Amino acid sequence: MPVMMFGRQCERMMVAFEKEEDGLVSIDVPKFLQRFTLDIIGLAAFDYDFEALDNPDNEKVKMYNEIIKGTQNPIYFFFPILEKYFLWVIPKRRALHRKMDEMNTIFFSIIDRKRKTLASNKHNIEEGEKDLLTLMLEANEDTGNPQHQLSDVELRDNLAAFFLAGHDTTSNALSFALYYLAVNQHVQGKAREEAIRILGDGDDIVYPSAQQCSDMKYIYMVVKETLRMSGPAQNTLPRQSNRDTELAGTFIPKGASLIADIFVMHHDPSVWKDPEAFFPERFAPGGESESKAGQGLSWAPFGSGSRQCIGMNFSLAEQKVALSMLLRKFTWTLPGNSTIEHHIVIGGGVGIISPEELHLKFMKRF
Ligand code: HEM
Repeated sequence: MPVMMFGRQCERMMVAFEKEEDGLVSIDVPKFLQRFTLDIIGLAAFDYDFEALDNPDNEKVKMYNEIIKGTQNPIYFFFPILEKYFLWVIPKRRALHRKMDEMNTIFFSIIDRKRKTLASNKHNIEEGEKDLLTLMLEANEDTGNPQHQLSDVELRDNLAAFFLAGHDTTSNALSFALYYLAVNQHVQGKAREEAIRILGDGDDIVYPSAQQCSDMKYIYMVVKETLRMSGPAQNTLPRQSNRDTELAGTFIPKGASLIADIFVMHHDPSVWKDPEAFFPERFAPGGESESKAGQGLSWAPFGSGSRQCIGMNFSLAEQKVALSMLLRKFTWTLPGNSTIEHHIVIGGGVGIISPEELHLKFMKRF
């Protein structure tokens, strides 16, 4: 869990906040958080710095953003056949494929370089701060059996999956958390008290340690309640029924594809009391959430079972580091003319939700 690296990137983000033209009065929160989580996933996956926070218009960032936007285009999502057989008549899409080839070349050269660095034993970093590619290459060597090793294409595919699954999800979760803290000032105050109690007060930047992250009980409750209200993943990945069965009175034939609707479950009044109220205390010891133990799923922002999100702990630590550092350095509210005081407008792509727009006013504590 590279918490120190999370801290370094959060410091870069806070510096970037202060460079904004209008100062801190109207920060475009999702824009900064997307850069923050992109830099983090690049460094965590293979020690590659996109420099999205320091230099947001650089070619690497532009290329990545265009590719991601392209993957979310519903036309190709629902009709992949267009891409497979008719690419030659769609010049715009062809150009995007060329960009993807470029990205693949970058991925493969990173894998190659990393393998050489490991072979020459120059990679001397702490276990907790190692990137995923290093861990996968080390695991490859540990198997001893070439047949059980990941090929370069498999390594590339895994890294690409981490990017797709781990970038927008965490940035959207953090954007929503900052929104709920802005409109619930008493919760923001309590969360700040905890951040200061654990990290100390003062006018210096402090990077939380892994132990300090696990001590953040109230901030964790805020994170959980945010994920209940506005978890970025709308539904789980599909499962296939392996036999004819019945679910709550509905016949499910063998082979049917099933998804669980996470958003609906989190907002169901028969599951949660007053589900539209933001109330982190639901997750306090002995609170509403605990009383549901053993009654089936009620909170599953990361899905459930053997295919539960593999990046859950990574994302939770990233969120705790960012929130505690921001709480210690700033207070924030909605700007005076904001139209989203009572209701945040939700947008997003296929299966993922994000705030449609979110500007916040920040005030420095030091
Ligand atoms: C707030 C942040 C995140 C949310 C809400 C989220 C949510 C989810 C959900 C709902 C699933 C499907 C689970 C299921 O069907 O049971 C999933 C799968 C996955 N997530 Fe995440 N995720 C987040 C962050 C991340 C991060 C940071 C990474 C990587 C570093 C990641 C990597 C993955 C991968 C690889 C899978 C597929 C797992 C499999 O099929 O076995 N996610 N995520």
